[in-house]
Amino acid sequence: MINSFPTVQLVLQPGVFDLGWGHPDPKLMPMEGMRQAASAASEQFGADMFAYGNAAGAGPLLAWLRERITQNEGRDPGFGGIAITGGNSLGLDQICTLLAKPGSIVLVESPTYHYAVKILRNHPFELVPVAADHNGLQIEALEAVLADLKRQGRQAQMLYCVPTYHNPTGACLSLERRNALIEIAQRNSFLIIEDDVYRDLSYNNTPPPSLWSMDRGSNVIRLGSFAKSLAPGLRLGWVTGDPDRIWRIADSGVLDSGGGSNHYAAMIVAAFCRAGRFEPHVASLRAAYAKRSHTLSAAFQTLLPDDIEVITPQGGFFTWINLPAPMATADLLPLAEAHGVSFIPGKKFFLHQGGERSVRLAHSLYPPEDLAVAAERFATAVQQLRKQ
Ligand SMILES: Cc1ncc(COP(=O)(O)O)c(C=O)c1O
Repeated sequence: MINSFPTVQLVLQPGVFDLGWGHPDPKLMPMEGMRQAASAASEQFGADMFAYGNAAGAGPLLAWLRERITQNEGRDPGFGGIAITGGNSLGLDQICTLLAKPGSIVLVESPTYHYAVKILRNHPFELVPVAADHNGLQIEALEAVLADLKRQGRQAQMLYCVPTYHNPTGACLSLERRNALIEIAQRNSFLIIEDDVYRDLSYNNTPPPSLWSMDRGSNVIRLGSFAKSLAPGLRLGWVTGDPDRIWRIADSGVLDSGGGSNHYAAMIVAAFCRAGRFEPHVASLRAAYAKRSHTLSAAFQTLLPDDIEVITPQGGFFTWINLPAPMATADLLPLAEAHGVSFIPGKKFFLHQGGERSVRLAHSLYPPEDLAVAAERFATAVQQLRKQ
């Protein structure tokens, strides 16, 4: 029975470091900068801030994004190849609603972001898993799935993937695999949905090129978001792709009737970004999250036995751990929680089966000193499980 109205999604149990939540740390969000941007936006844009917006999204934000994307990625989306979304979740749902037919076969890398699967399952699609490893989606597995479909006289229409700082594994799709994936998509005429939500959170390196920037045809539609780089509550992102597809989204009944996605928030973010605040802010986030990730992996290097595989990311929020047989995550979770640390079992990120020995830890929400304690608690739980 519901007897109150919660304000936010996050619920933390007292005394437990819950590394299950892949949320950005609210303490790292640019509260003061956004407050000033809100006031600057009302001066700069006046009543336009409060009007129904342009269907493809607020012009000042589109212009800023277009310039930044062209500069950083070497591909200009043009006027017609970009639209504002309400974040990647909504963007994915729009793609499913507007660019795919009922009964479509959608390939999904496995493991994958579990809520993307939930979104895809809201549509009348057939989801087919494709195995992924430390280097992202496995090309051989993809070829095998496609050959199998062909034998049945069927064809995939779309593929959903997170090639850069993957959720849940933290992996990056290698350059070789990126090239191969695009070539296969062209040859087999399917659309790649590139969920690029963590692109701005590389630690020390420049992120790998997006599939969208590498695509010489029109086989990639890419979703970007301000959820991790500014704040998820803004519900703001963008989509780049073939102008015909972007037009299909911008010209949808919802955006035409409602005047674009989250126009008010988009105007404030435009003022924030145009004041030169975005780059220094993401630079500070990269440094903070790199430190958090490093704290966790350095602690595990000394605390965990060698036969436990820890995959350390180069960006994003997640560390992925594989336990050796016969250890199982289902047995580890209650022990870990009893010691005051929690996580999401790997199984949750697989379409059908897999992940029984895997763990996803998000290092985004807690400062390094808390993560060091969380790592100790996790290691204690692992030792206890080993003795059982
Ligand atoms: C891979 C991935 N896609 C999408 C999202 C959600 O993005 P948004 O907040 O922009 O809807 C998340 C958030 O955890 C994510 O990890």
